[in-house]
Amino acid sequence: MYNEITLDIPMQEPKRQYYYMEKCRQCVRELEKERGHALKFFVRTFGCQMNARDSEKLRGILLQAGLEEGMDEEADFVLYNTCTVRDNANQKVYGHLGYLQTLKKKHPAMKIALCGCMMQEPAVVEKIKKSYGFVDLIFGTHNIYKLAELLYCCLTEKKMVVDVWDCAENVVEDLPAMRKYPFKSGVNIMYGCNNFCSYCIVPYVRGRERSRDPKEILAEIRRLALDGVKEIMLLGQNVNSYGKNLAKPMSFAELLRQVNEVEGIERIRFMTSHPKDLSDELIAAMRDCKKVCHHLHLPLQSGSSRILKVMNRHYTKEQYLDLAERIRAEIPDISLTTDIIVGFPGETEEDFQETLDVVRKIRYDSAFTFIYSKRTGTAAAAMENQVPEAVVKERFDRLLREVQQIAAEVCGRDVNTVQPVLVECENDHQPGFVSGRLGNNLLVHFPGDASLIGNIVPVKLTEAKGFYYIGKREKETEDGR
Ligand code: SAH
Ligand code: SF4
Ligand code: F3S
Repeated sequence: MYNEITLDIPMQEPKRQYYYMEKCRQCVRELEKERGHALKFFVRTFGCQMNARDSEKLRGILLQAGLEEGMDEEADFVLYNTCTVRDNANQKVYGHLGYLQTLKKKHPAMKIALCGCMMQEPAVVEKIKKSYGFVDLIFGTHNIYKLAELLYCCLTEKKMVVDVWDCAENVVEDLPAMRKYPFKSGVNIMYGCNNFCSYCIVPYVRGRERSRDPKEILAEIRRLALDGVKEIMLLGQNVNSYGKNLAKPMSFAELLRQVNEVEGIERIRFMTSHPKDLSDELIAAMRDCKKVCHHLHLPLQSGSSRILKVMNRHYTKEQYLDLAERIRAEIPDISLTTDIIVGFPGETEEDFQETLDVVRKIRYDSAFTFIYSKRTGTAAAAMENQVPEAVVKERFDRLLREVQQIAAEVCGRDVNTVQPVLVECENDHQPGFVSGRLGNNLLVHFPGDASLIGNIVPVKLTEAKGFYYIGKREKETEDGR
């Protein structure tokens, strides 16, 4: 019996998953007959852009498996794609799980699944098994491509299914994805991270750095362009080290130049750039490639060379400032954004002043500021000189004020100019208005209707509002960038 069933299951990927999508479809049809309604799924994303892109792949698989997408947790299959970069990300997931438990009491047939970075932590999986026994399926970051097979298991079994891998096998290509926006998409160029910044859990939950084959990346971008995508965001934890471990090594700058040639794509972004690996070759590529947005997210983390060393960041304050200067010399209108951590173990007031100094010198367009969060298993978690909470909070507030004041001043610099805007949606608050983004990622609201969504149109920025603009549509000109 066992052999009869398993013999026709393909061993090769992605064939095996397409086989399971078909098996799921049959199963879903039967359940629909039993329950008298269409089976709905809902995927909630808790993490970064990479997490969000994974969710698009998960949604693509679930649609192919015969389920319909619902609007919220009142669904037959709820999947949480989790994040564990800071403790508050974890707490959010546990909070939501409480809500799911009450829903499941009302609808016992509901299936609850958890995946993503948090599930790569053995202690989390243990806790869920012990205290959240109503969860039906747990998987990690390395086997999301297996969702159809796992879903089939989950639909046909009563007990909790757990499948978390320590490391990734091969990158599985050619699986479906369902984009959140028809006109823009993330594209993974690499997975994992080798940097082991001492505060960061990502290398532990995402595994070692693996670059995708450039041919696969370009083929995906061409397909996206044919499907109406105008803007892509190349995704990796450290895109500047792209291609180093390929059989035929290739730099990120080279990849960027090739992506720039893809017809139909009008805007290219990328995320994230580690300052230690940002080459002059990349700065030149950014300058030369017409479609690459003049926006660079360049995480600082700390302005103190002493702290940067303990963070294992491999650059000093001076090197960072010099890098920013070289970038601005080549691309004067570049918008610089950053990430900063406050309260890293051993951070003194002097160290913090160094961070403020960099913030004042660079004048970031915006900055994400984080309170240091101790992550089990990282080098910094074992450091004894943790900064008292009250001191961290006070520094955090000072930094936030500084960052916000500068951002508000910087944001206004393009007022009264005409800029290309990619229109994303109708404005919720103001009827007759649409909202879109500038090349530097800032929002612009201007009069228009839904027919503009997905188009890049020239807009005169009439009023700067601190973190966004109000504008007015201009007549089309040749240069739509
Ligand atoms: N790979 C990216 C960042 C990924 S995590 C990079 O190197 O820039 C996103 C941001 O979360 C980091 O830039 C950092 O500022 C913040 N972060 C990571 N671990 C953290 C921790 N333990 N506590 C507080 N912030 C953290
Ligand atoms: Fe974390 Fe550093 Fe890797 Fe970014 S580069 S993901 S901060 S270890
Ligand atoms: Fe979070 Fe994982 Fe991204 S830990 S920030 S979702 S890589």
